[in-house]
Amino acid sequence: MSDCRIVVLISGSGSNLQALIDATEQGNIDGRIVAVISNRPGVRGLERAEKHGIPAITIDHTDFPDRASFDAALAERIDSYHPDLVVLAGFMRILTEDFVARYAGRMLNIHPSRLPKYQGLHTHQRAIDAGDATHGASVHFVTAELDGGPVILQSELPIRGDHTAETLAADLLPQEHRIYPKVVEWFCAGRLALTPDGVEMDGKLLTQPLQLAEIED
Ligand code: GAR
Repeated sequence: MSDCRIVVLISGSGSNLQALIDATEQGNIDGRIVAVISNRPGVRGLERAEKHGIPAITIDHTDFPDRASFDAALAERIDSYHPDLVVLAGFMRILTEDFVARYAGRMLNIHPSRLPKYQGLHTHQRAIDAGDATHGASVHFVTAELDGGPVILQSELPIRGDHTAETLAADLLPQEHRIYPKVVEWFCAGRLALTPDGVEMDGKLLTQPLQLAEIED
């Protein structure tokens, strides 16, 4: 797909958004970010978008009586940009089934754990508390199950004895900034597809998630 149109949804700092902006500007991704939408007003990610001339929109979920009406307004706005791909980058909202179904096979998320471990919140602390030797991040297609869609690419990071949830999160972010642009690059190059059996990459079903260490020398 040439000149892939990407809409990015955020809730906060937008460091993953920044990595995606950089990758599009450097020509690594054959596509462009046509809009950034935040459910929280005044967040840093909106400033990042504006700085790069990308429409930066706030749709505050607290202005809506329920989840369904927020998701409907969000979908209407997203669709006005005719995206090929919707990218959740630190978008901290649970989505309705209708919303997820509307973007089936063309919506990605990044999650700060080695899924299927630690779906949901507080992933860094949970990995430390469990005594895990490693932590990581995962990029996956979004399906109706929260953080449960098929994983495309993961990273892995040793957990040190002195790691806190904060320092572990900070150490993980640079890996997130490598894996997310890579997956968006593949999607925009038409190399990825979500099928009923799982993720296909170059027409071949992935039997397990790809690992960052395998794709980087
Ligand atoms: C990232 O660590 C991302 O993996 C996480 O939020 C952070 C957003 O940072 N996402 C989730 O927890 C989703 N469940 P950013 O705004 O700097 O990209």
